[in-house]
Amino acid sequence: MSKFLIPVYKKVGPVFVKGKGSFLWDKDGNRYLDLFPGWGVSILGHCHPEIVRVINEQSKDLIHLPNNLFHPWQDALAEKLVEKAFKSKVFFGNSGTEAVEAAIKFSRLYGRKNNRYEIITMKDSFHGRTFGSLSATGQSKYKKAFKPVLPGFVEAFFNDFGDFRKKVTKKTVGVMLELIQGEGGVNIATPEYVVKLRQFCTKNDLLFIADEVQTGMGRTSKLFCYQNYDIEPDIMLLSKGLGAGFPVSAILVKNDIADVMKPGMHASTFGGNPLASRVGLEVLDLIKRERVLFNVKRMGNYLIKELLRLKEKFSLIKDVRSMGLMAGVELFSEAQPLFEEALREKLIINCTHQNVLRIMPALNVKKDELDLGLDILKSIFEKLC
Ligand SMILES: Cc1ncc(COP(=O)(O)O)c(C=O)c1O
Repeated sequence: MSKFLIPVYKKVGPVFVKGKGSFLWDKDGNRYLDLFPGWGVSILGHCHPEIVRVINEQSKDLIHLPNNLFHPWQDALAEKLVEKAFKSKVFFGNSGTEAVEAAIKFSRLYGRKNNRYEIITMKDSFHGRTFGSLSATGQSKYKKAFKPVLPGFVEAFFNDFGDFRKKVTKKTVGVMLELIQGEGGVNIATPEYVVKLRQFCTKNDLLFIADEVQTGMGRTSKLFCYQNYDIEPDIMLLSKGLGAGFPVSAILVKNDIADVMKPGMHASTFGGNPLASRVGLEVLDLIKRERVLFNVKRMGNYLIKELLRLKEKFSLIKDVRSMGLMAGVELFSEAQPLFEEALREKLIINCTHQNVLRIMPALNVKKDELDLGLDILKSIFEKLC
């Protein structure tokens, strides 16, 4: 426990000093397999040499520039994202929550013409820790100490179109959801539900906001998770993998909606700086050059197959769910002891929603790395069952 840090994080394990690909090393030289690198951020593994190169090169030329001056890389990254997603305009920030806050502001502006401001969000969702995104989050454990939270958010049950319908009023301006709830326990939206939501939003002039902070940038084997559902959102939020370890976030807003934001209404000092934008461009390029989406598909199929085998074998496992390389193993018991045992065995995974182990490896993870992690997990289940 540090004397100098505000203790908001439950820190565990040793002191790490080095990372490479899917491995981390502590200060005593012990090697750990990291199947949850950077909480979903380090999608190309730790310290990918091309990311290191770009950071080195760009930091010699220009690191930061205020947003009232031009540099070439911000526009280039916006263009690349739009080309790969849908016709839209982009605003850059630094973290997931900043993208969520921007989405709330866009929604308020869009609804102003007919006094609509309520956003329907989902039970068990997670959208961040600043006040708007916290208020939007559908888990009271994050909010209760800070009540009253902001008004304007209405909770509906995930994957329940009937409940969503009931929550829509004259004040509703849109719906915001994660297509796969990450912190909420790896809950995957069904195609029927997503298509119905999309159709309803289109028919009733409601904004469909996809929070792809965790699911975006190839995690599900498509560059953006919504592409698995054959729909387009009106607004999409990206962060985590967009900088593969470097802080950056983006909000993509369909053109007609983007126009509601006028000069001076929103800003971010660091958002879209030269260094962050160059890294974002390189990440997109590497995903293509290194055929990362193909690897996600292959390794994702392998991972779920092996997790299902574990489920067959160990009665402690209630369910396994995954899309691409975003997997959840739901247990009949608390998951924290398994997470801690894994760490002792030098495997890093995550425990969320009390009883779910979450595995989100680097998107370029190799089969032998997954095998190593699966062997460790198997031995832990053997010990505990
Ligand atoms: C879906 C989703 N939205 C928003 C956030 C908030 O992102 P950040 O912690 O970068 O503010 C997270 C973080 O885990 C997330 O998973």
